[in-house]
Amino acid sequence: MTADHGAVLEPMTPVQVVGIGLDGLEGLSAMALNRLRQADVIVGSDRQLEMCAAMAAEFWPLGNGQRAIARIQERLSQSDPGSMVVLASGDPLFFGLGRLLLEALPADQISFHPHLSSVQLAFSRLKLPWQEAKLVSIHGRDPDQLLRVLRQNPPLVAVLTDPHHSPGAIAQILIDLDLPQPYTLWVCEALGSEAEKVHRLSPAEARDRRFDPLSVVVLQRQKEDVLPAHVPLLGLPDSAFLSFSDRPGLI
Ligand SMILES: C[S@@+](CC[C@H](N)C(=O)[O-])C[C@H]1O[C@@H](n2cnc3c(N)ncnc32)[C@H](O)[C@@H]1O
Repeated sequence: MTADHGAVLEPMTPVQVVGIGLDGLEGLSAMALNRLRQADVIVGSDRQLEMCAAMAAEFWPLGNGQRAIARIQERLSQSDPGSMVVLASGDPLFFGLGRLLLEALPADQISFHPHLSSVQLAFSRLKLPWQEAKLVSIHGRDPDQLLRVLRQNPPLVAVLTDPHHSPGAIAQILIDLDLPQPYTLWVCEALGSEAEKVHRLSPAEARDRRFDPLSVVVLQRQKEDVLPAHVPLLGLPDSAFLSFSDRPGLI
Protein backbone atom coordinates (compact mmCIF):
# COMPACT_ATOMS: atom_id res chain seq x y z
CA MET A 1 0.00 0.00 0.00
CA THR A 2 1.42 3.49 -0.82
CA ALA A 3 0.61 6.80 0.85
CA ASP A 4 0.38 10.01 -1.23
CA HIS A 5 3.80 11.15 0.09
CA GLY A 6 5.27 8.12 -1.67
CA ALA A 7 6.27 6.14 1.44
CA VAL A 8 5.37 2.47 1.74
CA LEU A 9 3.08 1.85 4.71
CA GLU A 10 4.17 -1.15 6.77
CA PRO A 11 1.02 -2.89 8.00
CA MET A 12 2.85 -5.15 10.50
CA THR A 13 3.95 -2.49 12.99
CA PRO A 14 4.56 -3.36 16.66
CA VAL A 15 1.46 -1.45 17.78
CA GLN A 16 -1.82 -2.42 16.09
CA VAL A 17 -4.83 -0.35 17.09
CA VAL A 18 -7.99 -2.36 16.52
CA GLY A 19 -11.42 -0.70 16.62
CA ILE A 20 -14.02 -2.98 18.16
CA GLY A 21 -17.77 -2.61 18.67
CA LEU A 22 -20.25 -4.01 21.15
CA ASP A 23 -20.66 -7.01 18.81
CA GLY A 24 -17.17 -8.10 19.91
CA LEU A 25 -14.94 -10.38 17.87
CA GLU A 26 -17.77 -11.24 15.47
CA GLY A 27 -17.76 -7.72 14.08
CA LEU A 28 -14.02 -7.63 13.32
CA SER A 29 -12.48 -7.92 9.87
CA ALA A 30 -10.38 -11.01 9.15
CA MET A 31 -7.22 -8.86 9.27
CA ALA A 32 -8.07 -7.29 12.65
CA LEU A 33 -8.91 -10.71 14.07
CA ASN A 34 -5.58 -12.08 12.82
CA ARG A 35 -3.71 -9.24 14.48
CA LEU A 36 -5.43 -10.09 17.77
CA ARG A 37 -4.62 -13.79 17.41
CA GLN A 38 -0.95 -12.95 16.76
CA ALA A 39 -0.69 -10.45 19.64
CA ASP A 40 1.77 -10.91 22.49
CA VAL A 41 -0.01 -8.17 24.46
CA ILE A 42 -3.62 -6.95 24.26
CA VAL A 43 -4.49 -3.60 25.85
CA GLY A 44 -8.14 -2.65 26.41
CA SER A 45 -10.95 -1.80 28.80
CA ASP A 46 -12.17 -4.58 31.08
CA ARG A 47 -15.17 -5.13 28.79
CA GLN A 48 -12.97 -5.38 25.69
CA LEU A 49 -10.45 -7.70 27.36
CA GLU A 50 -13.29 -10.02 28.37
CA MET A 51 -14.24 -10.32 24.70
CA CYS A 52 -10.71 -11.60 24.04
CA ALA A 53 -10.63 -14.12 26.90
CA ALA A 54 -9.85 -16.97 24.46
CA MET A 55 -6.71 -15.26 23.07
CA ALA A 56 -3.29 -16.43 24.21
CA ALA A 57 -1.82 -13.01 25.03
CA GLU A 58 -0.82 -10.99 28.05
CA PHE A 59 -3.70 -8.63 28.98
CA TRP A 60 -2.97 -5.04 30.05
CA PRO A 61 -5.92 -2.99 31.39
CA LEU A 62 -6.22 0.37 29.65
CA GLY A 63 -7.32 2.32 32.76
CA ASN A 64 -6.99 6.04 32.05
CA GLY A 65 -4.49 5.28 29.29
CA GLN A 66 -1.36 6.83 30.85
CA ARG A 67 0.05 3.74 32.56
CA ALA A 68 -0.73 1.47 29.59
CA ILE A 69 0.95 3.93 27.19
CA ALA A 70 4.05 4.08 29.42
CA ARG A 71 4.21 0.26 29.33
CA ILE A 72 3.88 0.30 25.52
CA GLN A 73 6.69 2.90 25.27
CA GLU A 74 8.89 0.79 27.49
CA ARG A 75 8.26 -2.33 25.42
CA LEU A 76 8.89 -0.43 22.17
CA SER A 77 12.36 0.47 23.46
CA GLN A 78 13.27 -3.23 23.67
CA SER A 79 15.09 -4.90 20.76
CA ASP A 80 12.15 -7.24 20.06
CA PRO A 81 8.93 -5.60 21.27
CA GLY A 82 6.72 -8.27 19.68
CA SER A 83 3.17 -7.37 18.72
CA MET A 84 0.88 -5.23 20.89
CA VAL A 85 -2.78 -4.76 20.02
CA VAL A 86 -4.59 -1.79 21.55
CA LEU A 87 -8.37 -2.10 21.47
CA ALA A 88 -10.45 1.06 21.03
CA SER A 89 -14.17 1.59 20.52
CA GLY A 90 -15.41 2.14 16.98
CA ASP A 91 -13.01 4.14 14.84
CA PRO A 92 -9.96 4.87 17.05
CA LEU A 93 -9.28 8.10 15.13
CA PHE A 94 -12.76 9.48 15.66
CA PHE A 95 -12.80 11.12 19.13
CA GLY A 96 -10.90 8.05 20.32
CA LEU A 97 -7.72 6.62 21.72
CA GLY A 98 -5.89 7.01 18.40
CA ARG A 99 -5.05 10.66 19.00
CA LEU A 100 -3.54 9.96 22.43
CA LEU A 101 -1.45 7.11 21.01
CA LEU A 102 -0.17 9.28 18.14
CA GLU A 103 0.83 12.00 20.62
CA ALA A 104 2.83 9.51 22.72
CA LEU A 105 4.25 7.02 20.22
CA PRO A 106 6.05 7.26 16.85
CA ALA A 107 3.45 7.12 14.07
CA ASP A 108 5.55 4.66 12.06
CA GLN A 109 5.20 2.13 14.89
CA ILE A 110 1.38 2.18 14.77
CA SER A 111 -1.24 0.80 12.35
CA PHE A 112 -5.00 1.34 12.57
CA HIS A 113 -7.81 -1.11 11.88
CA PRO A 114 -11.01 0.96 12.28
CA HIS A 115 -14.42 -0.48 13.12
CA LEU A 116 -17.64 1.33 12.23
CA SER A 117 -17.93 4.41 14.42
CA SER A 118 -20.98 4.92 16.64
CA VAL A 119 -22.00 7.85 14.43
CA GLN A 120 -21.96 5.70 11.28
CA LEU A 121 -24.09 3.12 13.06
CA ALA A 122 -26.51 5.78 14.33
CA PHE A 123 -27.11 7.31 10.89
CA SER A 124 -27.52 3.86 9.34
CA ARG A 125 -30.17 2.96 11.90
CA LEU A 126 -31.98 6.26 11.21
CA LYS A 127 -31.54 5.83 7.43
CA LEU A 128 -30.28 9.41 7.14
CA PRO A 129 -27.56 10.51 4.67
CA TRP A 130 -25.04 12.31 6.89
CA GLN A 131 -22.49 13.98 4.62
CA GLU A 132 -23.64 17.39 5.82
CA ALA A 133 -23.97 16.53 9.51
CA LYS A 134 -22.01 18.43 12.14
CA LEU A 135 -20.18 16.06 14.51
CA VAL A 136 -19.65 17.11 18.11
CA SER A 137 -18.38 15.30 21.20
CA ILE A 138 -19.36 16.38 24.69
CA HIS A 139 -17.87 13.14 26.08
CA GLY A 140 -15.81 14.46 29.00
CA ARG A 141 -16.01 18.03 27.68
CA ASP A 142 -18.12 21.08 28.35
CA PRO A 143 -20.94 21.69 25.87
CA ASP A 144 -19.64 25.04 24.48
CA GLN A 145 -18.97 23.64 21.02
CA LEU A 146 -22.44 22.09 20.90
CA LEU A 147 -23.99 25.46 21.80
CA ARG A 148 -21.98 27.19 19.05
CA VAL A 149 -23.05 24.59 16.49
CA LEU A 150 -26.73 24.66 17.49
CA ARG A 151 -26.87 28.46 17.24
CA GLN A 152 -26.03 28.02 13.53
CA ASN A 153 -29.11 25.79 13.26
CA PRO A 154 -27.58 23.12 10.94
CA PRO A 155 -29.90 20.44 9.56
CA LEU A 156 -28.22 17.49 11.32
CA VAL A 157 -25.98 17.21 14.36
CA ALA A 158 -24.56 14.02 15.90
CA VAL A 159 -23.37 14.25 19.49
CA LEU A 160 -21.21 11.79 21.46
CA THR A 161 -22.32 11.83 25.08
CA ASP A 162 -21.21 10.53 28.48
CA PRO A 163 -23.15 9.76 31.66
CA HIS A 164 -22.78 13.38 32.87
CA HIS A 165 -23.19 15.10 29.49
CA SER A 166 -26.15 12.86 28.77
CA PRO A 167 -28.97 12.92 26.22
CA GLY A 168 -31.10 14.51 28.97
CA ALA A 169 -28.54 17.31 29.35
CA ILE A 170 -28.65 17.89 25.57
CA ALA A 171 -32.46 18.02 25.73
CA GLN A 172 -32.20 20.70 28.45
CA ILE A 173 -29.81 22.72 26.24
CA LEU A 174 -32.33 22.60 23.39
CA ILE A 175 -35.15 23.70 25.69
CA ASP A 176 -33.04 26.62 27.02
CA LEU A 177 -31.94 27.70 23.53
CA ASP A 178 -35.54 27.75 22.27
CA LEU A 179 -34.35 27.89 18.64
CA PRO A 180 -36.63 29.33 15.96
CA GLN A 181 -36.36 26.08 14.00
CA PRO A 182 -36.57 23.27 16.55
CA TYR A 183 -34.99 19.81 16.48
CA THR A 184 -36.25 16.27 16.77
CA LEU A 185 -33.99 14.35 19.10
CA TRP A 186 -32.97 10.75 18.41
CA VAL A 187 -31.20 8.78 21.13
CA CYS A 188 -29.30 5.73 19.87
CA GLU A 189 -28.28 3.48 22.79
CA ALA A 190 -25.73 0.64 22.93
CA LEU A 191 -25.48 0.39 19.13
CA GLY A 192 -24.36 -2.98 17.84
CA SER A 193 -25.28 -4.82 21.03
CA GLU A 194 -28.30 -6.96 21.77
CA ALA A 195 -29.56 -4.17 24.05
CA GLU A 196 -29.50 -1.60 21.21
CA LYS A 197 -32.40 0.88 21.27
CA VAL A 198 -33.29 3.89 19.13
CA HIS A 199 -35.81 6.47 20.37
CA ARG A 200 -37.38 9.50 18.69
CA LEU A 201 -38.24 12.02 21.37
CA SER A 202 -39.09 15.65 21.89
CA PRO A 203 -36.57 17.52 24.09
CA ALA A 204 -39.18 17.63 26.88
CA GLU A 205 -39.60 13.83 26.71
CA ALA A 206 -35.83 13.18 26.67
CA ARG A 207 -34.96 15.58 29.48
CA ASP A 208 -35.91 13.41 32.44
CA ARG A 209 -35.18 9.95 31.03
CA ARG A 210 -32.14 7.80 31.74
CA PHE A 211 -30.28 6.19 28.87
CA ASP A 212 -27.46 3.70 28.35
CA PRO A 213 -24.07 5.30 29.20
CA LEU A 214 -23.07 4.48 25.60
CA SER A 215 -25.44 6.70 23.62
CA VAL A 216 -25.23 8.90 20.55
CA VAL A 217 -27.73 11.72 20.09
CA VAL A 218 -28.76 12.79 16.60
CA LEU A 219 -30.52 16.14 16.30
CA GLN A 220 -32.59 16.54 13.15
CA ARG A 221 -33.81 20.02 12.35
CA GLN A 222 -37.54 20.03 11.75
CA LYS A 223 -38.59 20.91 8.23
CA GLU A 224 -39.60 24.47 7.39
CA ASP A 225 -42.93 25.03 5.72
CA VAL A 226 -42.07 24.29 2.11
CA LEU A 227 -44.30 26.83 0.44
CA PRO A 228 -43.94 30.58 0.82
CA ALA A 229 -46.85 32.28 2.64
CA HIS A 230 -48.39 33.75 -0.53
CA VAL A 231 -48.09 31.28 -3.37
CA PRO A 232 -48.84 32.74 -6.83
CA LEU A 233 -51.25 30.66 -8.89
CA LEU A 234 -48.81 30.57 -11.84
CA GLY A 235 -45.02 30.69 -12.17
CA LEU A 236 -43.75 29.14 -8.91
CA PRO A 237 -40.06 30.00 -8.35
CA ASP A 238 -37.54 27.08 -8.11
CA SER A 239 -37.03 27.95 -4.43
CA ALA A 240 -40.61 26.82 -3.74
CA PHE A 241 -39.67 23.24 -4.69
CA LEU A 242 -37.99 20.71 -2.45
CA SER A 243 -34.35 20.19 -3.38
CA PHE A 244 -31.00 19.11 -1.90
CA SER A 245 -28.66 21.77 -0.51
CA ASP A 246 -25.68 20.15 -2.31
CA ARG A 247 -27.69 19.73 -5.59
CA PRO A 248 -29.70 22.97 -5.68
CA GLY A 249 -30.78 22.52 -9.30
CA LEU A 250 -32.35 19.11 -8.65
CA ILE A 251 -36.09 19.61 -8.03
C1 LIG B 1 -14.60 8.27 23.51
S1 LIG B 1 -15.95 8.27 22.42
C2 LIG B 1 -15.40 7.09 21.26
C3 LIG B 1 -16.08 7.17 19.91
C4 LIG B 1 -15.64 6.04 18.99
N1 LIG B 1 -14.26 6.18 18.63
C5 LIG B 1 -16.49 5.91 17.75
O1 LIG B 1 -15.93 5.74 16.67
O2 LIG B 1 -17.72 5.91 17.87
C6 LIG B 1 -17.13 7.39 23.35
C7 LIG B 1 -18.55 7.80 23.02
O3 LIG B 1 -18.93 7.28 21.75
C8 LIG B 1 -20.30 6.90 21.78
N2 LIG B 1 -20.38 5.44 21.57
C9 LIG B 1 -19.35 4.58 21.45
N3 LIG B 1 -19.81 3.34 21.21
C10 LIG B 1 -21.16 3.42 21.18
C11 LIG B 1 -22.21 2.49 20.95
N4 LIG B 1 -21.95 1.21 20.71
N5 LIG B 1 -23.49 2.93 20.96
C12 LIG B 1 -23.77 4.23 21.18
N6 LIG B 1 -22.81 5.15 21.40
C13 LIG B 1 -21.53 4.76 21.40
C14 LIG B 1 -20.85 7.30 23.14
O4 LIG B 1 -21.35 8.61 23.03
C15 LIG B 1 -19.59 7.23 23.97
O5 LIG B 1 -19.70 7.94 25.17
